[in-house]
Parts: sequence; C-alpha cells; structure tokens
Amino acid sequence: MKLAVVGGGSTYTPELIDGFARLRDTLPISELVLIDPAADRLELVGGLARRIFAKQGHDGKIVTTSDVDAGVADADAVLLQLRVGGQAARNNDETWPLECGCVGQETTGAGGLAKALRTVPVVLDIAERVRRTNPNAWIIDFTNPVGIVTRALLQAGHKAVGLCNVAIGFQRTFAGLLGVAPADVHLNHVGLNHLTWETGVRLGGPEGADLLPKLLAEHGDAIADDLHLPRQVLDRLGVVPSYYLRYFYAHDEVVRELRTKPSRAAEVAEMEKQLLEMYGDPALDEKPELLAKRGGAFYSEAAVDLAASLLGGGGSPYQVVNTVNRGTLPFLPDDAVIEVQAAVGGQGPTPLPVPEPDPLYTGLIAHVTAYEDLALEAALRGGRDRVFKAMLSHPLIGQYEYAEALTDKLIAHNREHLAWA
Ligand code: G6P
Ligand code: MN
Repeated sequence: MKLAVVGGGSTYTPELIDGFARLRDTLPISELVLIDPAADRLELVGGLARRIFAKQGHDGKIVTTSDVDAGVADADAVLLQLRVGGQAARNNDETWPLECGCVGQETTGAGGLAKALRTVPVVLDIAERVRRTNPNAWIIDFTNPVGIVTRALLQAGHKAVGLCNVAIGFQRTFAGLLGVAPADVHLNHVGLNHLTWETGVRLGGPEGADLLPKLLAEHGDAIADDLHLPRQVLDRLGVVPSYYLRYFYAHDEVVRELRTKPSRAAEVAEMEKQLLEMYGDPALDEKPELLAKRGGAFYSEAAVDLAASLLGGGGSPYQVVNTVNRGTLPFLPDDAVIEVQAAVGGQGPTPLPVPEPDPLYTGLIAHVTAYEDLALEAALRGGRDRVFKAMLSHPLIGQYEYAEALTDKLIAHNREHLAWA
C-alpha cells in the first residue's frame, strides 16, 4: 500500500509517522511519499521519519520529493496537510480581524475565510493532479478549513473525505474519565467541522447506554476547564460543545484575551523552530514530547483509522468524518458538508442517522453552512463582492461596516495568494 502526504515537510509529520509505525497492522504501508516544496524542512522531517520507522522495525520505504505529480503517482491514498503561506499567513489571519473587534482565528470568522480563499485553489490543483495520475486514489483532507475544502473537493467530483481530530480527542478524554478503552466510546457528534457538539457518549456502540449525563455530573468541572467555558454553560446545554464554540459563546471575552497575548501562530512558529532543530539531531528516533503541545493530538490515529477503512477494511466501524449531507441533517442542503459519525468502507463514508438537534444548534449550523457556501463561491470565483458577502453572512461578523473593513484587510493581507486581487 502506498500513501502520499502533501505538506509532508510539516512539523506534524512525525506524529503521523509514529501512528503509521505503531498501527502498521491496521494500515500496512509499503511506501510513504512525503511531498513538500520546502526542501530543507523535508530533509529534516524525512530523516526523522526514516529513523522512527527503523526504530520501530517498520520496513516501509520513505521517499521525499517536491514533485507533486511524481509523488502521488500510484498512491492508494493522498493525505493533504498543507498550509498555504505558512505560519506567517496564519499570523495575519489571527491578528487583523482583532482591529475590528472580531475574533482572530485560523479557521473561524474572517481569518478562516482568508485561509479558505488561499487554500481552496491550491488544494483543487493538487486534487486534479491526483485524479490525472490515479483516479482511484482516496483524498483525505486534514487541510483547514476542512469543511469548506472538503466541500470544494466533493463539488469537483473528487474521492475525498475531510478529517479533524476534535472528535477523537473527546473520545480519548471521555474514555479516560470513564475508565474504559477509547474504542468502547461512541460519540453522538453533530455539526460542521469546528462547529460541533457531543450530544451523547455511548458505551460500546451507537446503541449503547448514554453516559453523557453521568460524565457531566461527575466530571463537569474538568470538561469545562478544558474548554475554558463556565461549568454552568455545559450544565444548561446538557451537551459538550467543541472548544471552537468558545469563539461563538464567549466571542468578546476571547477577543479581549487575544489582544493581550502573542498569536497562536507566533507560539507555533517558535515551537516549529525548536522542533526542526530537534528533528535534525541524528540521535532522535521518536516523536519528541514538544509535539504534544500542538493541537493535532491523535491526528495520526484518526488518519490511520480512516485510511484503513477506505482502503479495504481494518479501521473502526464508525468514524467521525466530514462528508456530504444528503439528508442526514434535513435542515441543511443536500450538498452541504457536515461532520458526523459514519460507517466507512471502500465506497467511502455513509453517515449514521442523527436525531434532529435542538434549534439552539440547528440555527447556528444552518447559518455557518450558508457562510461556507458563500465562502466557497468567493474562493472559486474571486472578486471583492463575493468576499464581502461571505464576510457579511458570517454569524460572528454580520454588520456591513465590519464586513467592508474586514474585506479590505483580507485582500490587502493576502494579495500574493489571490490570483484575482
Ligand atoms: C486542532 C484542529 C486542527 C488545527 C490544530 C491547530 O488539531 O482540529 O484543525 O489545525 O488544532 O493546532 P496548532 O498547534 O497548529 O495550533
Ligand atoms: Mn480540525
């Protein structure tokens, strides 16, 4: 089995390699191609990747290249984990929205729109190359904003599934609190990428007993602390929102906080410097502890699980993925991309039925779906008007004065990445 990783020079890659090595019975890889335009990073990351495989006795071959066409040729699956413009562009996304009193975040709000505009054309170009050389390959997209990027891929007819690690993170946390194995925890997970709620925590599978009330009663403080939300909010809702909901439920508080500290991009850039230095040490042959400070915990396990199921079985029977709605959430258009539990097989994901969520959630989900639709239009067709409409439609923006100013800032900061600007 051959896998290709676009953005393979990412400092995240050792997380992935570690998962591929540990879980090789689930996903037997004979060749792994790391593709990245940054030759210096690729060399450091590739070297460590080979040492991790060697240490763990994995005899898969690791190839590094900057040539996408050559790299994806014959791959059974292609993982996308790229970041157009790197941490510098992310730093912009996280800062200029604050000038208008709006949250500065890489996937939510105005910053997320900027990232979508930079990313969608690049990802579609790569996907075309994959399709040309290997029309049967699966594309697994971890590139943010995952909901919009996955929708772009599916709309263009690609064999794509979007992946995020938020759900697998909750599964691990809840398993720990309950004292059971992660595989025994089945989440009722509903929403859009980075806009989800855990509405049930079932033991053993979709039909198992719902332990969420017990979890909230016994561990509500710990769960609330992790999310930086007041315990009362969780108790009132009776469900567990993902930490991305804090940008909505505590928007102004987050803006105040963000104004007083360095951006996450600046923190990550500092960590990346240290990580790359470590990766260059020929004595290092495992993923370093420092990587745990990044947000992508368990990403490799989710990726292995998904790839294994798409490529012929072996993964978990149900997995949280980003896929086309097709009636699963009846209040959304059929072609919306949603993030839910699905049965995954060689034909792709089939969402499990989802009980109709409370209007408290359906309203926001529908609102953000409409924004994602307009954001994708803007990313595909360009133009200030389309960017403005997407901006105005976002529930965290909404006022024309802000939408105008943020549109100008987005374009000014991203001109080099926008073909039409
Ligand atoms: C989580 C999210 C990812 C996001 C990452 C950011 O893993 O699910 O979509 O890319 O956090 O982590 P970072 O360490 O880059 O802030
Ligand atoms: Mn994510």
